[in-house]
Amino acid sequence: MATTATTKRTWTTLELINWSKDYLAEKGFENARLETELLLGHALGLKRIELYLQYERVLAERELAGFKTLLKRRLAGEPVQYVTGTAGFMLADFEVTPDVLIPRPETEALVEVAVEMIGERLGEEAPVGTAPGVDGPVLADIGTGSGVIAVTLAQKFPAAKVIATDVSPEALAVAARNAENVGVSERISLAEGTGLAPLSEMGLAGGVHGIVSNPPYILSGDMAGLPTEVRDFEPRLALDGGSDGLDCLRGIIEGAPGMLADGGIVALEFGDGQADAVRALAAPMLSDVSIHRDYAGRDRIMTGRKSD
Ligand SMILES: C[S@@+](CC[C@H](N)C(=O)[O-])C[C@H]1O[C@@H](n2cnc3c(N)ncnc32)[C@H](O)[C@@H]1O
Repeated sequence: MATTATTKRTWTTLELINWSKDYLAEKGFENARLETELLLGHALGLKRIELYLQYERVLAERELAGFKTLLKRRLAGEPVQYVTGTAGFMLADFEVTPDVLIPRPETEALVEVAVEMIGERLGEEAPVGTAPGVDGPVLADIGTGSGVIAVTLAQKFPAAKVIATDVSPEALAVAARNAENVGVSERISLAEGTGLAPLSEMGLAGGVHGIVSNPPYILSGDMAGLPTEVRDFEPRLALDGGSDGLDCLRGIIEGAPGMLADGGIVALEFGDGQADAVRALAAPMLSDVSIHRDYAGRDRIMTGRKSD
């Protein structure tokens, strides 16, 4: 690219893809082609497939300059999702900014498990009018970040009202835009606050049919050892779970029985190696406590229910 600028050589889309993927691969980036396509697609305002439909297109100077700026950010270690402002989650694209965690595949596994269990619960009876002023089922996503869990729940349960909470107003603003973009904002209420507090403040105690959360769960002492892409770019607030990593999980589990309707479901993501601790916290509070694996086969999800 440096040579390009000085010699003014022209580049087609395909030539630039090939050059950039080799360059990123040389620098040790594992998904060099995919990341090149995402960055170039973003620079040109095209979908990845459209790049190949225009592979002979000669790029304008300002398009090359735009791509170079994005590539430099990626080479400096910034996650590609922050560079492009977009992350995929369960086949949809969501806006992400440095104020929110980049959604992970294990959270897709959490949502799949949660949707199945909530679906079973809601199928058992029509949970109408169990919370003041709410006609349909009530679901909650605690620590919503970009809103991926709340938005997906709203899509999967079209009669449900979803409460999306976060301590970060900046994160709630991103979640609001994602809810709007997907067309579910009318059924999502955003609430700023800690743990389950916003639910009680809304008068929902005893009226929530499902609580789903991917809270911060990294041990404070492990924060410094995280990969730099995570530690230096993702919000500490989204990661640091306190001295044993369980601060948020503990609060949600202990408060869940008071917040849930009878038979209501809790589905929580936790960190590698925390399954026993999370099970021990949940066993006295909930029935049918189960641990589920993520797609990599690691124990990462706890589910339980409030006894009828
Ligand atoms: C691990 S991120 C999850 C974001 C999103 N739900 C996802 O799965 O991609 C945790 C989120 O919880 C928020 N958070 C941290 N502490 C919290 C607390 N005590 N109560 C509510 N939200 C909290 C953070 O701001 C962050 O957005």
